[in-house]
Amino acid sequence: MDPETAGITGARRFVPEGRLSLGRLASAATNCRGCPLWRGASQVVFGEGSRTAELMLVGEQPGDREDRDGRPFVGPAGLELNRILDETGIERNRLYVTNAVKHFKFHREGKRRIHDKPTRNEVKACRPWLDRELELVQPRAVVALGATAGRELFGPGFRVTRHHGQFLENGPAEISVGTIHPSAIIRARDPDREAYREMLTGDLCAVIERLSS
Ligand code: URA
Ligand code: SF4
Repeated sequence: MDPETAGITGARRFVPEGRLSLGRLASAATNCRGCPLWRGASQVVFGEGSRTAELMLVGEQPGDREDRDGRPFVGPAGLELNRILDETGIERNRLYVTNAVKHFKFHREGKRRIHDKPTRNEVKACRPWLDRELELVQPRAVVALGATAGRELFGPGFRVTRHHGQFLENGPAEISVGTIHPSAIIRARDPDREAYREMLTGDLCAVIERLSS
């Protein structure tokens, strides 16, 4: 068996059809076995936010803290994101915030759980959940945070450095933009850190401006 695809059957058969609430969709995701990532994680971390959100943010996958709390972007990357949202005047509770992959992928180093990048197959396996979130919320704008979400939403040619902040034609919403992941700001060294922060802030501001025009 190909180790890249072993155990990956995809989320589709776990995703309920028909009209349903975001709450019911999220609770269906607790039973997902569409790829092996559920095994190591504590719980599913589904998207959350307003069903009438005009703006949806899509990250990569939950981190250690999100895995423990069961909510997206509540760890260090979430704090960085909140800080930037504050600066841009966006209220987080008016957004819908989710991830390309709904279970935490990691390896252990001693007691610590270190984030591992999800494979393309894992992202693909999880995509039916994201499609359903998009269908129910129907945001006017979608912003991919980082390369994983960007490639999934805009195609394999998407490069954060080259394409960030551009209004892309091939995205899932009227306004489709990719930008850096807030964790890139945390990882950056000092002179770059502020530039990264400005990049994410600027890209989000451009989306807000477009939304209100
Ligand atoms: N990083 C992500 O991409 N998503 C989260 O929810 C947390 C960290
Ligand atoms: Fe299902 Fe996605 Fe979790 Fe894999 S990561 S088990 S596809 S919810």
